Amino acid sequence: MNADGRTRLHQTPEWTALAKHREELGEVRLRELFAADPGRGTGYALRVGDLYVDYSKHLITDETLRLLRELAVATDVFGLRDAMFRGERINTTEDRAVLHTALRAPRDAVIEVDGENVVPAVHAVLDRMADFAGRIRSGEWAGHTGKRIRNVVNIGIGGSDLGPAMAYEVLRAFTDRDLTVRFVSNVDGADLHEATRDLDPSETLFVIASKTFTTIETVTNATSARTWLLNALGDEEAVARHFVALSTNAGKVAEFGIDTANMFEFWDWVGGRYSYDSAIGLSLMIAIGPERFREMLDGFRLVDEHFRTAPAESNVPLLLGLLGVWYGNFHDAQSHAVLPYSHYLSKFTAYLQQLDMESNGKYVGRDGREVEWQTGPVVWGTPGTNGQHAYYQLIHQGTKLIPADFIGFAEPVAELSDELKAQHDLLMANFFAQTQALAFGKTPDEVRGEGVPEELVPHRTFKGDHPTTTVLARELTPSVLGQLVALYEHKVFVQGAIWGIDSFDQWGVELGKVLAKRVEPALTEGADVPGLDASTQALVAAYRELRGR
Ligand code: F6P
Repeated sequence: MNADGRTRLHQTPEWTALAKHREELGEVRLRELFAADPGRGTGYALRVGDLYVDYSKHLITDETLRLLRELAVATDVFGLRDAMFRGERINTTEDRAVLHTALRAPRDAVIEVDGENVVPAVHAVLDRMADFAGRIRSGEWAGHTGKRIRNVVNIGIGGSDLGPAMAYEVLRAFTDRDLTVRFVSNVDGADLHEATRDLDPSETLFVIASKTFTTIETVTNATSARTWLLNALGDEEAVARHFVALSTNAGKVAEFGIDTANMFEFWDWVGGRYSYDSAIGLSLMIAIGPERFREMLDGFRLVDEHFRTAPAESNVPLLLGLLGVWYGNFHDAQSHAVLPYSHYLSKFTAYLQQLDMESNGKYVGRDGREVEWQTGPVVWGTPGTNGQHAYYQLIHQGTKLIPADFIGFAEPVAELSDELKAQHDLLMANFFAQTQALAFGKTPDEVRGEGVPEELVPHRTFKGDHPTTTVLARELTPSVLGQLVALYEHKVFVQGAIWGIDSFDQWGVELGKVLAKRVEPALTEGADVPGLDASTQALVAAYRELRGR
């Protein structure tokens, strides 16, 4: 029981019904489920916007889905969802509203935070971004020496990097190819060095992206970027033409030396990992243009509306969230793979890692008590075909259950040559073959039937029953990217709501930051750090010796 007398999640009738159901199902054989229901391939599929989502290859029955939906009702997922969309302060540990959905609301929508409609401000910033992006793209905004801006370097980390960097990769085919756009995040000086070494400072714009504008990595890199610029241009006034800021913190931006006239604002009700469709997307907007950016926002909005209004039976983010709960809590799966069959989605899973793991990597519930159930999974993966020749062995024949999402597209991107476009069917043949192999495997008899010697039969057998979701769209467009991201945002929301955790804070990253600050003087000056543990002390000593200090 909770202190307030409420039953804890794992003691609710809905949870125990699922546990019982899991026991009764025993070892689920997908071959049998498909044999028993010839309509399963189409029956266990949903559409949202441009996405076709097949969930037939999951270890579930109609009853599983029914019980999972009951759990969602019992944990008030829909109540919390509505509170989020209404702008209530559902991020309780930070006492903030959670309104990334307002970033893609239509101009005439009314969404209030503390009695104030936030939508006009969202659109005012989008309009300013569009104006600025247009001026960079047309050459109207020139550098300090009058030269056209040809390079954009985004400096940010976490949500101020992963989102725009991912989306820039995804939408490369829509970018202005005459612009060089790079993303610097690591405080390792090598990152900024590699990003700038072949650039002309007089043609380079730095976009400093930081919600708080206090993040040490970003402020350090931004300071070094300013030195790099001023060493070349020799005039403090150059900063105004070569630096813009994306932030919620005007005071810190001004303190850093960036004119707040060159600042694009967002608000504390936008979480960092939910922010690339805010001002944080400026570098992306410069690359793809304001129109494409708005198409992307339309895609987000489409899935927001679906999540907000679709009935539970056809609500795709709800379904994905519930499937994650099924595996994490009732099959003890520890991780979740996201495997895109698109080169352009190469950074998509890295982006989802922050979205999911920073949101739901929590062991304390909203009620302040430790949870007694598994929360967020380890999210991992890289583009599928590469993975096939690396780690898929473990997914097929290892000892761990790894549910996976496969994401693919029917059309190759338009600008490929005919020869390269022709490779697309081969790519997609792999896409379909893998989920087939994972689900249905190969029986010992089938292996024997191929004349394999008996001693090799166990090695060549594939047990199958590895669950996958397949997400298929016609082509990769800005709107489809928005749809995919919103789908995962809301999936993460559903899971956090069920587990009873605050998906919108990230206190777990604080301790490391504090300790780094404390240890740094020991590295640089050999300062005595009180209370430093013996292991770290020895490591610091070894480091100083290696550096000849
Ligand atoms: O340390 C984690 C974090 O706070 C993330 O949540 C955030 O996306 C990132 O750092 C960057 O923060 P900021 O945008 O304030 O620089």
